[in-house]
Order: sequence, then C-alpha cells, then structure tokens
Amino acid sequence: MTGATEDLFTPIHKGLRAMMYDLSERLQSNDFEDLEATRRVVTDLEHDFEIARTAGCMICIFHRHADDEESQIFPAVRGSDAGLVETLIQEHHGLTRQELAITASGHELLGMPDAAQRMSAGIRLNQAMNALLADYVLHMNREERELVPHMSKHFTNEQLAAMRGRIIGGTPPDRVAAILTWMLPALNVTELTDFFGSLRASAPPPVFQALAKLGEARVDANRWRIVKARLAR
Ligand SMILES: [Fe+2]
Ligand SMILES: [Fe+2]
Repeated sequence: MTGATEDLFTPIHKGLRAMMYDLSERLQSNDFEDLEATRRVVTDLEHDFEIARTAGCMICIFHRHADDEESQIFPAVRGSDAGLVETLIQEHHGLTRQELAITASGHELLGMPDAAQRMSAGIRLNQAMNALLADYVLHMNREERELVPHMSKHFTNEQLAAMRGRIIGGTPPDRVAAILTWMLPALNVTELTDFFGSLRASAPPPVFQALAKLGEARVDANRWRIVKARLAR
C-alpha cells in the first residue's frame, strides 16, 4: 500500500469530457442542409488511423488516449488486477468499433448531394455520437473509480510520474498543446495550482512560461487570478 497521490487519469479525462460535450453540442445544433458547416464539424470529429496524430481531429484524440493507456499503463497493472485490465481493453475495442462506424457515416453523409437525405443521415450520426459519448464517459468513470484507487495502492508517485513522462514524451507537441487547450480550463483551482506548481519546479522556464500563457488565455479569468495568487504564496 503506497498511498500515492499522482492521478494519471482524472485531469486528462476532464479535458476529454470538455471536448466531447463541445463536439456533441456542435453536432446536435448543426444544419445538415448546409454542406460547408457539415463538412467542418464532420472533419473535426473524423477518425482515420493514418492521420491519428492530427491534433485537430477529436475522435483521433479519444482513440490515441486509449492507445496510450494500453501501451504505458495497463501492462504495469496487469500483475495486480488482470481482470480489470481485460475489462477496460474490451471496452476500448467497443469504443474503437463505434469510432470507425461514425467516421464511415460522416464520409458517407458528406457524399450525399440531397439535403433531405443529409438531414436524415445527420439524425443517425447524432444518435451514434451520443452512444459513443455515453459509453466513453462511463468507461472513463470506471477508470477513475476503480483504476485510480487501485494504482494509488500499488504504485509509488515516482512510478506514476515516470508513466506519465513516457506518455507525454511519446506524444507529438501539437497534440499535447491541443489536449492542454481543453484540459486546463476543465480543471479546478486546486488542480491548476498543483499542475503549474509542479511544472514550475520541474520544467525549463520557457516551457513553464508558454503553458502559463496558454492557461491565462484559456482558463476563466476569476479562476486564473486565484491560481496566480496561490502560486505566489
Ligand atoms: Fe481507457
Ligand atoms: Fe482513460
């Protein structure tokens, strides 16, 4: 029992949920008669394994998140809870199947010349996206409720920080920036203060300054003021 406090899941999941809610809101209010507007929202959600590193593709980010867990975190957990890891991997496979089906539907929809046909396909696309988001939110909840406490018992803060370092080190900088753009405004003041406090202690000053600038631009002004005051203590 180590009682580690590092949490590899909750902050990134907060960012992913914020992205998903935004995407869902855009999709459900989209005018599928308007082909250009439809192209923009479908392009943003499109998933393609060949371009899975594209920062702006939201489903790519969801998919890569699952890949990172499977390559950098789950192998270490397998020894202490193989059943939980197996369940989570099966859930990842189900999410991937849904992502691929949504991508195919999006492409098909963009190829429909008839506006009424696009409107009907748009209803089905919304329903498929809602099912994916519901399943993804439940899956992340399981990781937060079961995996986070399990890992805090079985790993040290140093081991958890090393796993996070390997994930960030293997992620292209544009995707790190895209994720932080969503994650920082999704965190509460305590999480933001911890994030920037440890960044200031461990990262080169230009990295800290660049991310502080991103935080200032993206986080609600009142919350950012509190974070700055706490960091100055
Ligand atoms: Fe996962
Ligand atoms: Fe996750």
